[in-house]
Amino acid sequence: MSVQQDIRRLTAPDIRARKKGEPIVSLTAYHAHTARLMDPYCDFILVGDSLGMVMHGMETTVPVTLDMMILQGHAVMRGSKRALVVVDMPFGSYEASKEQAFMSASRVLKETGCGAIKLEGGRRMAETIRFLVERGVPVMGHIGLTPQSINTIGSFRAQGRDEKDWGPIEDDARAVADAGAFSVVIEAVAEPLARKITAAVDIPTIGIGASAACDGQILVLEDMLGLSARVPKFVKRYGDLGPSIEKAVADYAKEVRSRAFPGPDQVYGMKKG
Ligand code: KIV
Repeated sequence: MSVQQDIRRLTAPDIRARKKGEPIVSLTAYHAHTARLMDPYCDFILVGDSLGMVMHGMETTVPVTLDMMILQGHAVMRGSKRALVVVDMPFGSYEASKEQAFMSASRVLKETGCGAIKLEGGRRMAETIRFLVERGVPVMGHIGLTPQSINTIGSFRAQGRDEKDWGPIEDDARAVADAGAFSVVIEAVAEPLARKITAAVDIPTIGIGASAACDGQILVLEDMLGLSARVPKFVKRYGDLGPSIEKAVADYAKEVRSRAFPGPDQVYGMKKG
């Protein structure tokens, strides 16, 4: 008889309840295998649209499609058991209207089985966030640097560098919280602003390049493992997998080319004949 241990998956309300509590740990994942490795340590896993740049080598996240997000969202759900899985809504799948946002978000929830979606934008998306939440879609907001707006903002620079620019970002945070989002990612803003926003809103703030003043942190896994081609300046490297992968591939290539590639007898101790 097998003993089945049921692991309860965290939900959006669980994350919401962590305001001012134990800091929230999160990372991005796009695959079942990385999701499985991080699942015991993360409160939520974000299937970020950064997958366009990290996995597919795109210049920006703009070309990412809803189908790409759904495919990888499903993979991450298969690889994880405990963490809440949040799937990013890609550019063009939610901005046109509240109805478009609901149709896209409902596809994401139904086809991946994930527990929440994330979308970019503050005041301009507040009405949509309210519409989604009232219809059963848990929403994580994303303010500060919003990479999907790259074509209008011009670069991936930190936001709110001068105190005089803080007001609109604070207003964005309040609008997202008031609209019913269960938490909000704050990307690339100065520490005093992140601290101010975290004190001003009653939902957890999740920082990326926004200091330890936030209620939780998120990093792109490949960035913190040294696997990304371009890494934002604020990212601390917790691993350096690039050189290990390169060495393993080089060793393999050398063995194959020199006909020293081991047979099953050498690898598994199988008897010949
Ligand atoms: O797409 C992504 O990975 C993100 C994080 C950087 C927060 O939105």
